[in-house]
Amino acid sequence: MREEIKRIWPEIEWIKDEDIKEKTYKCWEYAIENSVLSAEDLEKIPFSLLIDDCDITFMNHKRTCVQLSVDIAKTMEKNFGTKINWDYLISGAILIDVGKLLEYEITDGKLGTSRDGKLLRHPFSGVAIADRFGLPYDIHHIIAYHSKEGDLGKRTVESIIVHHADFVSFEPFQNAKTLKV
Ligand SMILES: [Fe+2]
Repeated sequence: MREEIKRIWPEIEWIKDEDIKEKTYKCWEYAIENSVLSAEDLEKIPFSLLIDDCDITFMNHKRTCVQLSVDIAKTMEKNFGTKINWDYLISGAILIDVGKLLEYEITDGKLGTSRDGKLLRHPFSGVAIADRFGLPYDIHHIIAYHSKEGDLGKRTVESIIVHHADFVSFEPFQNAKTLKV
C-alpha cells in the first residue's frame, strides 16, 4: 500500500518533518483501505461528480491544488515576506479531500455519494482521519476550513492559500460559476 500511495502522491515527499510525512502517508493508507475505491481508481475517476463530462481526474485535480498552493506561497513569501509553515501547507493541501474516499459508494456499477457521505461531508471525515493519526491541529484546520463550511470562520495564512488553490482549480469547470462571453 505504501508504494501505491508514493506513486499517486509524490508530493508527500516534499514534507520535511518526518513525523508529519509519516502521518500523512498513514491517513491516505487508512482512507484507501476503508474506501470502495483503489489508488488506481483515483487516477481514473472525475474529480467531481457534480460536473457533466468532467475529464479531469481526482488525482490530477488534487495534485494541481497542492502544486498551486506551493506556487502561491512561494510568491507570497518572496514578494510580501509572508511567513509560511511549509509542512502544514503541504500536508494540509494533500489531506483536504482524504475524507472523500469515505464518501463514495458504488451502486449498480455507478459511482455516487453514500448516505454517510451526505451526513458528514469530507471536511469533517477528513479531520477525523487526521485526528486518528495525531496530526497537528493546524493541519486539521486546513482540512476543516478548505471548503464552503470554513467560510464562517477565520483561516490561517496556509488555510487561505489552500482554500483558494482548491477553488481556482474547481470553479472554472463549473458552468454555473463561469462567465462565458
Ligand atoms: Fe474538498
